Amino acid sequence: MRKKNIVVVGLQWGDEGKGKIIDLLAKNADIIARYQGGNNAGHTVVKGDLSLIFRLVPSGILNEEKICILGNGVVIDPLVLFEELESLKKIGININGRFFVSNKCHIIMPYHKRLDIARERLRGAGMIGTTGRGIGPAYEDKVARLGIRAIDLLDRELLHDKIVLSLKEKNYLFKNILGEKVFNPDDLINEYFKLGDKLKDFLIDASGFINEKLKKGFNIMLEGAQGTFLDVDHGTYPYVTSSNTVAGGALAGVGLGPTIVDGVIGITKAYTTRVGEGYFPSELQGDAGALIRDKGEEFGSVTGRPRRCGWFDVNLIREAKNLNGITDMVVTKLDVLSGIDKLKICTGYLLNGSVIEHLPSSIAEYGKITPIYEEIRGWSEDISNVRSFNDLPVNARKYLSRIEELTELPINIVSIGKERMQIITLKSIF
Ligand code: GDP
Ligand code: IMO
Ligand code: MG
Repeated sequence: MRKKNIVVVGLQWGDEGKGKIIDLLAKNADIIARYQGGNNAGHTVVKGDLSLIFRLVPSGILNEEKICILGNGVVIDPLVLFEELESLKKIGININGRFFVSNKCHIIMPYHKRLDIARERLRGAGMIGTTGRGIGPAYEDKVARLGIRAIDLLDRELLHDKIVLSLKEKNYLFKNILGEKVFNPDDLINEYFKLGDKLKDFLIDASGFINEKLKKGFNIMLEGAQGTFLDVDHGTYPYVTSSNTVAGGALAGVGLGPTIVDGVIGITKAYTTRVGEGYFPSELQGDAGALIRDKGEEFGSVTGRPRRCGWFDVNLIREAKNLNGITDMVVTKLDVLSGIDKLKICTGYLLNGSVIEHLPSSIAEYGKITPIYEEIRGWSEDISNVRSFNDLPVNARKYLSRIEELTELPINIVSIGKERMQIITLKSIF
């Protein structure tokens, strides 16, 4: 029987624990590929005493012999990539012959970072709360057909022309509108041509490579970054990232057709978090939010920013199910809820006197919705050492069953700690 090809996506606003689950599932996949985002992502994988945070490299990399690829949809800051590869080398992870980068990936240039930060300053109170890594401006240049692709770094003349063209507008903006320093094109050309030389051995025609492998019987796991509601089309716009995070984006982001996909795994926390600005209907203010933040160590893996915390929101998951075509679900961080007397689940929103079971599309409506909660009794036991569903406290089981019922999705895996083995498998995925 053909091995399954799957897409893994976050169902909320990112940081659902994708890194841990992808590392765990990678044993069942021959190829693991990222398809969008850049080093705004921070995917944590814990292995013994090591806690690794992957910003670009797919979270399957610790599974030796697996092929890991950055698809064309990923935007790459080469300096960050090399730093990450260096730290893998230091801990003895051999990536030779099994880590590749699509030659069509767009490069995050220093002017993208400067633009990102300056624009946020310009927005003032209306800031997005970006990671400041230049992600948005790099994608803007891609769509504006001004972007520099990985392959362009190998051609000095082409690189020269592209950087000069791109800086014509940007230096004007920096100098006259944003009050920032301008860039010297020659410095950038020299630096990025050298970086291209370092990158060259990793570059491949990723789509051609993957398609060939799939024909030979290999299977692939496509690793999403960010989360469904940070999607540029379907998220809480404008408080979103600049790529399509949903499963549909996975295919374009690596160069495969939709007919290869056998399943889409959605990862959700047992509660909700969000980092950065923007709507968050079930957000908990004050001490209640701080309790989950402290217990769950909810601080950004990349930026260290405190994450906003709130109750599990069924509306998000219902909508994410449709947006991604979710077939299987993983619930992470259930252990964090131990010791909370009364838990709440947001089952819908009240808008102008009616109950709605989806997220509003208009900004104006966000301000008017009131979340509707259902209360569920909590449990006090530490569950981090539980390995089977039946050994969970009865209220934890009820909580999970209620989530399954309300979302109409099966829970395949429950995660109850950071470590790879801290999981409860209810139904197998592959
Ligand atoms: P990602 O971006 O989706 O990969 O998630 P992050 O790595 O940014 O954030 C998830 C955080 O939760 C990391 O610090 C993980 O080590 C941690 N984590 C993952 N699963 C669990 C779990 O089941 N329980 C607890 N307590 N921590 C977890
Ligand atoms: P992982 O893959 C959580 C958020 C930022 C900001 C918005 C736009 O680890 O789940 P950007 O820098 O992308 O222009 O910022 O998106 N954001 C994330 N939040 N997890 C992430 O990645 C995120 N990547 C971006 O905080 O609100
Ligand atoms: Mg993260």
